[in-house]
Amino acid sequence: MAKVNDPIVINGLKVKNRITFSPTVKFDMAGPDAKVTEKHVRHYTERAEGGVGLICVEATAVEPGGRFAKNHLGLWDDAQIEGHTFITKACHDNKVAVIIQLNHTGITANPECGPAIGPSSVTTRNGNLSKEMTVSEIKEMQDLFVNAAIRAKKAGYDGIQLHGCHGYLINQFVNKTTNLRTDEYGGSVENRARFAAEILRRIRKECGEEFLLSVRTVGADPELADAIAIAEEYVKAGCNYLQVSHGMGEAEPGLRSEEDPYNGICAMGVHFHKAFTGRIPTSCANGILEPDLVKYLIENDLTDTVDLARAILADPAFPDAVLNGTDYTKCFGCPRCQYGPFTEHKCPAEIKRGKK
Ligand SMILES: Cc1cc2nc3c(=O)[nH]c(=O)nc-3n(C[C@H](O)[C@H](O)[C@H](O)COP(=O)(O)O)c2cc1C
Ligand code: SF4
Repeated sequence: MAKVNDPIVINGLKVKNRITFSPTVKFDMAGPDAKVTEKHVRHYTERAEGGVGLICVEATAVEPGGRFAKNHLGLWDDAQIEGHTFITKACHDNKVAVIIQLNHTGITANPECGPAIGPSSVTTRNGNLSKEMTVSEIKEMQDLFVNAAIRAKKAGYDGIQLHGCHGYLINQFVNKTTNLRTDEYGGSVENRARFAAEILRRIRKECGEEFLLSVRTVGADPELADAIAIAEEYVKAGCNYLQVSHGMGEAEPGLRSEEDPYNGICAMGVHFHKAFTGRIPTSCANGILEPDLVKYLIENDLTDTVDLARAILADPAFPDAVLNGTDYTKCFGCPRCQYGPFTEHKCPAEIKRGKK
């Protein structure tokens, strides 16, 4: 039986325990140049000091048009590398593995940042039609992801994660309602996964065998079986580590029983663990706000690692509470997380801890 404080080796990278800090965008921290600021460095340093095993730095845009908002982190320019070195150093000084999530918003683009582009022309959230990418535009987009990964390696990251869920560009290629293509990038599982799989193969070639390649993938979009088949394509392309979250909808119903102490999104990660166990590590996420639930998931072999977002936003010392039973400030489960977009940053848990 694994324990939460057991190390795990992922593609040769030692992760000192089974707790990861999920990618979480800090909208009020980057400036219009999309560079890392002192606020980012302080934020990640505090989390690295809190005892977590692996940090996945927030969704980071591969080009200006792919940002969530104008104050969103980017890695499309060499001038953006230096700031990231402070984050990676803080993590490594604390023996924390660190990767960075790379993203493009695609058809959900913020019009202030760029046009809505994607696998197909479909109606977007604001009622306009997105632009269908040509094959040469797909290749150019792949170049942007690969070049951002090369910069990530130069910045000292142990690997990258492709943001393959939550309705953004990679998810849009995977999902049949946003990908209506009839060429090699649409239709079959293999074709819908091709956009990300080709990026993975190229990053592996450019960044070497030791660079950790992760995908945060959809647990069901709309079905678990399809999502697992998509992830199989990522694994064939060199993915070493799957973190599982939701796609454009929430969770496929019926994947958990009434007695299970975790929610439906986390249940998809549990099912992924069954499908990939013994091959590559998987991680589950969502609604895990109590130390006992982290232990339950690991000790019952329901996952290899547990991803925590709000628990560690609320209190960087939450991992220490799981590992050593120390006190912590619990996330209030606000209806809308105050670290989220377009909200004033006033985390009540942070205030309770006396940070602000
Ligand atoms: C403020 C905030 C920012 C987030 N940013 C990202 C992100 O950059 N990439 C991502 O994959 N998920 C993002 N998420 C989703 C979280 O990683 C996580 O999946 C979600 O919050 C559920 O986990 P939790 O219950 O542990 O908070 C974000 C969530 C929050 C609250
Ligand atoms: S307490 Fe509220 S603002 Fe703070 S992490 Fe939890 S949900 Fe987000």
